[in-house]
Amino acid sequence: MNKQEVIENEANYVLQTYVRPEMVFTHGEGAYLYDTEGNKYLDFNAGIAVTALGHSDPEWSQVVAEQSAKLAHVSNLYHTEPQAALAKKLVENSFADRVYFCNSGAEANEAAIKFARKYAWLNEQDGKTEIVSFTKGFHGRTMGALSATYKEKYRKPFEPLIQGAKFAEFNNLDSAKAAINDNTCAVIIEPIQGEGGIHPATKDFLQGVRELCDQHGALLIYDEVQCGLGRTGYLWAHELMGVYPDIMTLAKPLAGGLPIGATLMTQDVADAIKPGDHGSTFAAGPLVCAAANVVVNRVSDPEFLARIRANSEHLNQKLHELLPADKVVEIRGAGYMIGVEFNIPVAGITKRCVDEKLLLIGAGENTIRFIPPLIVDIPEIDAAVETLARILNETAD
Ligand SMILES: Cc1ncc(COP(=O)(O)O)c(C=O)c1O
Repeated sequence: MNKQEVIENEANYVLQTYVRPEMVFTHGEGAYLYDTEGNKYLDFNAGIAVTALGHSDPEWSQVVAEQSAKLAHVSNLYHTEPQAALAKKLVENSFADRVYFCNSGAEANEAAIKFARKYAWLNEQDGKTEIVSFTKGFHGRTMGALSATYKEKYRKPFEPLIQGAKFAEFNNLDSAKAAINDNTCAVIIEPIQGEGGIHPATKDFLQGVRELCDQHGALLIYDEVQCGLGRTGYLWAHELMGVYPDIMTLAKPLAGGLPIGATLMTQDVADAIKPGDHGSTFAAGPLVCAAANVVVNRVSDPEFLARIRANSEHLNQKLHELLPADKVVEIRGAGYMIGVEFNIPVAGITKRCVDEKLLLIGAGENTIRFIPPLIVDIPEIDAAVETLARILNETAD
């Protein structure tokens, strides 16, 4: 198929849930993607915070090729070594004692919600079923995860969603206090909100929410689907705040581009779950887990994380220096999860970036997010900020 045929077939046969720009990618290397016409794009989107090691990482590609030639899938009815190795690594490097595997971020949150419901059902009185989440939060598009997702446009057409889902204001402890009570079985929060515009939770807020959860016997769930696994320059985003959850969900970067999700939990939560309570045919097969083991090994290296933190300082400095101050409202985030909020809508700007062969996406109406592959270095950072600055300087108010 040539480029035009690909675009026409997509338009004719694929359900239209996405609006795509007019190029067709064929391959990638490191932080770069190439299209059918040989154009080279600097990828500061990383497949929405997924390709942690960049495209076609040699070690990752080799492990995937070798594992696919050996064994790709057996289902969760049988043991395989890559899954056991991945579970051990995730547990040994986190607050958690156990991990449940699935295939996506929404599924990881769906599992977290089910586990919290079961935990409350076993340990507490009837009616302890409410889930509290926060303004601007995003947790996925399946019915449970969607119930905890704030944007009304995403929820409204699909109601009724699950019963007992409530919202409190992000970073407002009084609002959290008003929402969390003895009927709350779980509180779900992104330590750094992604889709909602790159908003970090404050340490005091998370600490206060932790105390409210303890006071009312509710489980605290961190959704680190976007902010977790090295993106902030720490293995887990909540290390920045030093406040720990009962459950944490992961997905996007975990297998470096293959589909996987994970729900990590304490032994106390795990004790509530029995064989048959939840499951997945595909989850954490040997192929995807072999890929994930490469990602977790590389990303959990303290030197790898330290480089992200150092480069992030450079990124922040460059953004402050080069972006036109009259258009910038705020620069937020940590590590390689930085949002720049503007006083103008950003859809036109990110479109201009594509024209200039830079992939950057928005987070909300007015914020552009920098979520590059975790392997980018100073030259790519400089190139991305310089291109964005040039476009902004050319853009009339
Ligand atoms: C914080 C967060 N949670 C959950 C999800 C849903 O993940 P998925 O698209 O893999 O279902 C996303 C996706 O953007 C996310 O950013």
